[in-house]
Amino acid sequence: MVARKDPFTCFVFVDPKQEFGLMFTQLPAAAPDPILQVSVAYAKDARTDKLDLGVGVFRNAEGVTPVFGAVKAAEAKVLHAQTTKTYVGIGGDMGFVAALGAISLPHLTHGVDYKGVQTIGGTGGVFLAVQLAARAKPDATVFVPEHTWSNHRAIAKLSGLTVANYAYPRFDAAPDINAVLNDLANAQSGDVLVLHATCHNPTGIDFPAKALGRVLSLAAEKDLFVIVDAAYLGFGVSFDADAKALEIYDEHLSEYALVVSCSKNFGLYRDRVGACFFRSKDADALQLAFANVLDIARSSYSMPADHGAAVVREILTDDGLKADWLDELAGQRDLIAGNRAALANALDDAAPGYDWTYLRGGQGMFAIVPITPQDVAGLAEVDGIYMVPFGRVNVAAALPDKALRIASALSPRFGPL
Ligand code: LMR
Repeated sequence: MVARKDPFTCFVFVDPKQEFGLMFTQLPAAAPDPILQVSVAYAKDARTDKLDLGVGVFRNAEGVTPVFGAVKAAEAKVLHAQTTKTYVGIGGDMGFVAALGAISLPHLTHGVDYKGVQTIGGTGGVFLAVQLAARAKPDATVFVPEHTWSNHRAIAKLSGLTVANYAYPRFDAAPDINAVLNDLANAQSGDVLVLHATCHNPTGIDFPAKALGRVLSLAAEKDLFVIVDAAYLGFGVSFDADAKALEIYDEHLSEYALVVSCSKNFGLYRDRVGACFFRSKDADALQLAFANVLDIARSSYSMPADHGAAVVREILTDDGLKADWLDELAGQRDLIAGNRAALANALDDAAPGYDWTYLRGGQGMFAIVPITPQDVAGLAEVDGIYMVPFGRVNVAAALPDKALRIASALSPRFGPL
């Protein structure tokens, strides 16, 4: 602080600029995103045999993340038919929202049982749902799985809420339900419970339906606001089966939010499209939630970008394109399952003292392996294999012809399961 005494009046002046300093210098340190920093490090590596098992994207046999054929066809239709670029609206493309809602929540009626808005990917949907919870209860605690997508915690903190963990395994075939219930025992009415729909990120381990039912009963008893993050619909059993599994939320809860991402299952990663659906069995409460969500969206980003939503709408409202899309999605799902099996087999040989049941039985793009952040750094430096520091493997990029290389590079670095 710089204080200056006026020689005539004897007043002491404090220069506010001097006291505060330049604003940027006052900012707290901010760590790079643990997932996306892997892509940055990978891009800087000049080796041609480097391998990116970091960010969760599907890769084909050439290591490319392809554009779905159905998306290409739909994009051509959108390009041809579009006559204006005028604003669409705060909630985005309602044709898209209705079409995505119809396949995600087929047992419910859009506009009556639930309302939805188009969001900026799944992240934008989680953001809106958490912000909504924060409006209702500014001191809410957000309960997330002990191992979860890192952005869940970041979004909750950005919204000014407290984050707490509930038990979630890295290496067991299923969560320990008693440990989960125990960790939720202190949750208060209005607190938030984040659950993953199919294909848990980062573990690949989902709640068995019966255990999930017990968690939801507790959530209903305590009036917790449940946010279901469905970033991988279609990568579990099938799109329909994964959507059918969402009925359990209705069986237990009077209200919840379902966030559906189109990043992975439509391969629209960079187009940032998804939706957040708000379910309530009380029509007035639903309307109030919807009005608040529109208000939050407007004051955060005004309205979402149109392109990805228009493409998904075209696909879902055209039987031929929809069938093509579902076929391509099934193809990716099968290839990822093949990667998983090949990796588990290679690890059986390379690290025989370990039980890889959890890895073999997992679903979706991810699995965690027992390796420390230091050893993940060593793996990148020595072997040119990149993964997220806490040991997450993007199984969708671990192609069978690389399984041996990955397993032999990983196994000497393994700690205990
Ligand atoms: C991931 O977990 O790798 C993806 O969901 C990408 C992201 O945004 O983190």
